[in-house]
Amino acid sequence: MIALEMGASSRMIGMLKPGQRVVVMGPTGAPTEVPESSTVLLLGGGLGNAVLFSIAKAAKEKNNKVIYFAGYKKAEDIFKREEIEAATDVVIYSVDSGQPIPAQRPQDKSFVGNIIQAMIAYASGQLGEIPIPLNEASRVIAIGSDRMMEAVTKARHESLKPYLNECHEGIASINSPMQCMMKAVCAQCLQRHVIPGTNEEVFVFTCFNQDQKMDEVDFANLNSRLKANSLMEKISNKWLDYIIEKHSLMKV
Ligand code: FES
Repeated sequence: MIALEMGASSRMIGMLKPGQRVVVMGPTGAPTEVPESSTVLLLGGGLGNAVLFSIAKAAKEKNNKVIYFAGYKKAEDIFKREEIEAATDVVIYSVDSGQPIPAQRPQDKSFVGNIIQAMIAYASGQLGEIPIPLNEASRVIAIGSDRMMEAVTKARHESLKPYLNECHEGIASINSPMQCMMKAVCAQCLQRHVIPGTNEEVFVFTCFNQDQKMDEVDFANLNSRLKANSLMEKISNKWLDYIIEKHSLMKV
């Protein structure tokens, strides 16, 4: 289990003491579907990489070739590098700015820029030899911020289009706000979809299945829902800062 200190509750995890009992609750979701004996293209943005390397492992176990773009804000954000490399055929590390992440294996690449620019640089040969062309991939799975996944969704039809297999399936791991996480109970996690072609409006429970077809997801709706909690998150974080300082609480 990996806990990333993002908000008040996750920051409190750092204060748990060894041996302390913890009750964990989360969306049960659905296992990510991975094809067999094919090629998958995995795109991880920041925290998304904490989940994506497990999907890479599952894909490898099903005899897939795995191309993995691991995007971070800065080089020091990287974690679980060994696990990522153990489950992939080629990794392209990118950072938005600053020092690049040096590649360790001969087939891996390094880039400074966003993940879409990294994909274009790889696919067009700017990063040198292309061990596996992007258009071999039958499935593209993106996990990152809603903005990153929206950018990938659009770029597949624009700047990335010449490099991708036109029949590929694009999947985004949607991070809707949740409450009960018990599948179709509270409806807090509803995500709006618009079906391409018919423009039919559909709502799905994200806690039932986080993996959703990129081209159906209404990302503007997702972004505005995610922002709805922003004020409470900031206030909780400030309150926690105050409590930590007042009571000299220490991380374990
Ligand atoms: S979070 Fe309650 S139904 Fe999905």
